[in-house]
Amino acid sequence: MAFNTLLTASNNGIYSITINRPDKMNALNIELIGELERALDEAIQSDDVRGIIITGTGDKAFAAGADIAEFASFRAEQAKALAENGHRIFNKIEQCTKPVIAAVNGFALGGGCELAMSCHMRIASTHAQFGQPEVKLGVIPGYGGTQRLVRYIGRARATEFLLTADMIDAGTALQLGLVNYVTAPDQLMIKCEEIMKKVAGKSPLVVKQVLDCVDAYYHKQTDGFELEIQEFSNCFNTDDFKEGTSAFLEKRKPSFKGT
Ligand code: COA
Repeated sequence: MAFNTLLTASNNGIYSITINRPDKMNALNIELIGELERALDEAIQSDDVRGIIITGTGDKAFAAGADIAEFASFRAEQAKALAENGHRIFNKIEQCTKPVIAAVNGFALGGGCELAMSCHMRIASTHAQFGQPEVKLGVIPGYGGTQRLVRYIGRARATEFLLTADMIDAGTALQLGLVNYVTAPDQLMIKCEEIMKKVAGKSPLVVKQVLDCVDAYYHKQTDGFELEIQEFSNCFNTDDFKEGTSAFLEKRKPSFKGT
């Protein structure tokens, strides 16, 4: 599938999505958000894809937010549609049944920070900067930033960053638990691929079950403990469970088929 605002590639079970508006700091305009959803759908539907990595073109920006020039003239009704659409797509990333890693290679501001936070894991290069600078524009985050930042770093620090618009450097992001790892820029994709390779060796069924159960923690309408009991018992009817336990007992490496 060809895109105007993204570069995509599929290699060794990893589908990579590169946000590609370098002259605009990879700002997320409406076209890009729509293409992001199409790329995600393609990755989700492909049996060959075991994981997704989202990054930005160049070494300056992951994404410097929603496109300010595009929404500057919006009124409330258009802004509501923009936010609803963004929420829907970022929820799709968060609820994806394949792991999604944000490889944060520079500024992840506003919608860029929100996009990174909707991914299951974040790996940052040493010069990455996170932040929700919307208040400087007289607006608040609209793609989930007020909620996900609190989840990751707690109410007090999240409130501070949301109100001051201060940027969070990679080291602080690591300390606060916003990112999983910080790497040198040239090691960023290598680290992401290393994690994906480990996950790819597991049963795709259990990967989906773990992601669903973790996601349930954040949904008031689902009892995550109940879901875990259900999914745990479901494992016992699968070939992959038989393969995993047999391989352990026979002292060999398992070969999972996803059935
Ligand atoms: N929307 C639209 N355009 C953006 C953008 C955004 N969120 N962020 C950067 N750009 C554009 C700039 O307007 C500029 O375009 P131009 O060359 O046509 O003038 C280009 O990207 C380069 O940005 P510039 O500001 O010149 O780079 P910089 O290195 O001096 O600063 C940032 C980088 C990221 C700190 C700065 O661009 C910035 O603060 N961006 C906005 C961040 C933001 O408020 N995001 C939340 C949006 S809701």
